[in-house]
Order: sequence, then C-alpha cells, then structure tokens
Amino acid sequence: MLFIYNCLDIKFSQNIVYLLIPAAGSGKRMKAGKNKLLINLKGKSLLYWTLKAVFQSKAIKWVGVIGQPYDKDEIILSIKEFANKIKWIKGGNTRQESVRNGLNALPSDASKVLIHDGARCLIKSELFDKCSFELENNDAVIFAIKVTDTIKIVNKDNYIKETPDRDFLYAAQTPQGFSVPKLKKAHDLATDNKWSVTDDASLFEKLNWPVKIIEGNSSNIKVTSPLDLQIAELFIKNIS
Ligand code: CTP
Ligand code: MG
Repeated sequence: MLFIYNCLDIKFSQNIVYLLIPAAGSGKRMKAGKNKLLINLKGKSLLYWTLKAVFQSKAIKWVGVIGQPYDKDEIILSIKEFANKIKWIKGGNTRQESVRNGLNALPSDASKVLIHDGARCLIKSELFDKCSFELENNDAVIFAIKVTDTIKIVNKDNYIKETPDRDFLYAAQTPQGFSVPKLKKAHDLATDNKWSVTDDASLFEKLNWPVKIIEGNSSNIKVTSPLDLQIAELFIKNIS
C-alpha cells in the first residue's frame, strides 16, 4: 500500500537545516561488487537521484556527503551537477562511524541536522521540509511506516520466541532529524559504551530521550537488494 502524501500539510521550517548523507557503504547485500550508490539507474547514479530530491527541498541549506576516499572521484563525477554544492566528508567503517564523522564536520552554527541515507533514492523532497518543520519543536524526529507483515522474534537457532503486537511496530526510515548537540552527545556516549546501532534514533532510545515518529511513505525504500533496485528503477521513471 502506498501512502499518499498530502501536500497541503507541508509547512516550512524557519531555521537553516543541515543535511548529512551517509554514502560510505560497500553494498554487500546488493552484490554489485561496488558501492551500490554508484549503480546506474536510468542514466544517473543512485546517489544522483537522492541528491536531486535534496536540492529540490526548500528547507535544506547545507549538504555533507559522507563517502569512502576510494569512491570519491567516481561519486563526485556521478553527481557532478551538485558537486560544488556539497561538502565531502570521509566515511568510517560503519554507518555509525560515518555519521559521527559527519557531525564533526558540520559548521559550528549548525543547531539542527537531518540525516538521510544515500540509499533512499526515491525520497520525495517534501519529506525533508516536513522533517525540518517537525524538528522545530522536537529534539529528534524520524519517518517510519507501520509494518504490514507479522514480525517474529527468534532465538539463535531460528525458533520463534515471540510475536510482538503489530499495532505497536513501525519500520524506521530516513530522513531522521536531530538537535546537533544532543546527537553529538549521544554518539560520544555510544563510543564510550561501545553501543552499536543501525540508525541514529536508536541512540536516543538507549538514553531514554524522546523521538517523535512521523508517518512516512512506503515508496521511500532503502535500496538494499537487487530486487529493490528493480523497484527503484520503476519509480524513478515516475518521478524524473
Ligand atoms: N553507510 C555509510 N558508511 C558505512 C556503511 C554504510 O555511510 N560504513 C551508508 C550507506 O552508504 C547507505 C546507508 O549508510 O547509504 C545505509 O546503509 P546500508 O543500506 O546498509 O548500505 P551498505 O552498508 O552499503 O550495504 P550493505 O549493508 O549491504 O553492505
Ligand atoms: Mg550496511
């Protein structure tokens, strides 16, 4: 089921919002032998489409792309239309490390930041605006969608332990938006405590800091597997 985004709901943030794009992965599950963000989708790299939506947003004033040094030349070439509008930031060994590097590279006046995975190339630009607006009155907001499958928690031998009530289950997406000092503090504590997480909201949860969920859009998939790539190709045709 596709969530139909109601454009009339969009309100714009008054603040300058900074955006970090983690793009330093290796795309192991895609099995393409290279960073999946460099894969060609309708004549452009996957990351190009993500950045196209970013620069259509009225809320975003500064963009950092976090990538591995060995991918830099190819990435910059693939997003050459936007190359002079982004700051290049060196990636880390994990997404968490990459985001931490990004936070440390933000300009000193950055008080709010959005983080959006480069791999979510079907993002609609309005979602950045919506996230920025919600961030004015919250320290942490994320897009998420209600899960439609029944989810099983299993033990290490793959036997089911529990079936949580689906009414309380959401699948987290990006963009996720945060107060910069709070997210920096959370990352520092994560490093001290050796916490390892796959999104930034998880750090707030570990600290019992509130995170607001905004109902997302089910077409905003994270391109992870070859099937996701085929889906992305279909949708890119509709949005380009
Ligand atoms: N990412 C990153 N730095 C890393 C690992 C991941 O910036 N060291 C980024 C990816 O480029 C992606 C986002 O984090 O935009 C979400 O990660 P994921 O979908 O897991 O991408 P990969 O790590 O590249 O894929 P895989 O896990 O299949 O190897
Ligand atoms: Mg990964």
